[in-house]
Amino acid sequence: MIAVEGVVKRFGTQTVLDGVSLTVAPGEVVTILGSSGSGKSTLIRCINGLERLDGGRITVDGLDVANPRQLAQARRLSATVFQLFNLYPHMTVLRNVTLAPEVVLKRPEPEVAAEARALLASVGLADKADAYPAQLSGGQRQRVGICRALAMNPRYLLLDEVTSALDPEMTAEVLAILGRLASQGTTMLFVTHEVEFARRISTRIVFLDQGRLIVDLPTADFFDPARGLAHPRINQFLSKMTPVGERP
Ligand SMILES: Nc1ncnc2c1ncn2[C@@H]1O[C@H](COP(=O)(O)OP(=O)(O)OP(=O)(O)O)[C@@H](O)[C@H]1O
Ligand SMILES: [Mg+2]
Repeated sequence: MIAVEGVVKRFGTQTVLDGVSLTVAPGEVVTILGSSGSGKSTLIRCINGLERLDGGRITVDGLDVANPRQLAQARRLSATVFQLFNLYPHMTVLRNVTLAPEVVLKRPEPEVAAEARALLASVGLADKADAYPAQLSGGQRQRVGICRALAMNPRYLLLDEVTSALDPEMTAEVLAILGRLASQGTTMLFVTHEVEFARRISTRIVFLDQGRLIVDLPTADFFDPARGLAHPRINQFLSKMTPVGERP
C-alpha cells in the first residue's frame, strides 16, 4: 500500500503540508478533496518523489521514496496522470503509450504494441493509434494519458485533476473510463473537483484544508451530516461545489 506518515512540506516560510497521514490499500479508491491551494498536488508530487520532504515519511509497498534507489523501484509501482496531458507532441499516440514499457521495463516491442493497441481500443481510440497528439481533442489526449499510465501495469494509479481542463462532454468521457477502472478494482488516489463522481466511485474521501488532512472517512460517512458534513469547512466547500437542490 501507499503509506503517507506525518508528512511536512514547506516552500520557503509557507507550510504547504502539515503532518499529513494517509494510506491507500490495494483495491481502494481514495479521493482527495480540498480548496485550491490546500496542498493536493503537492501531496501527489511528494508520493512521486518529485518533492523533498521536510518531515515524515512516504512508502510505496514498503519502499521509501526519500531513498533514491527505493524511489526508482517505487516509481514502477505507481503511475500518475496529471491535469495537463503532457504527451510527447512529436510521437504518435501509439508511441506515447509504448515508450515507457519498452525503455523503462525493457519489454519486447511487439508485445507492448499489441497491449497498447488493446488499451487504446478499450478507451475508444483504436483508430487514433497513428495520429499525433495535436490532432486529438483534449478528452482524447487525456484518454491517451490514462492509457500511457496503464501501459506500465501499475499497482497504483494517481490522478491529479485529470478532467479540470476539459469541457463537460469530454469530462464525462474521461470519467466514464475512470469509473470502469474503479469497478474493475484498480487502486486509485484521485484528486478531483468532481464531487458527485467521487461520491459514486470512492471507497474513502479525505479532505485537505490548508495543508492539514482534517477528515478521512468512508464515502458514505463523509457525506453524512453528522460526520464529514458536520465540519464547517467541508460543508462550506461542498456548498460551493454542488448546485443548490442537489445537496446531499
Ligand atoms: N514549487 C512551489 N514553490 C512555491 N510554492 C509552491 C510550489 N508548489 C506549490 N506551492 C504552493 O503550495 C500551496 C499548495 O499548492 P498545491 O498546488 O499543492 O495546491 P492544490 O491543492 O493542488 O490546488 P489546486 O486545486 O489549485 O490545484 C499553494 O499555496 C502553492 O502556491
Ligand atoms: Mg492542484
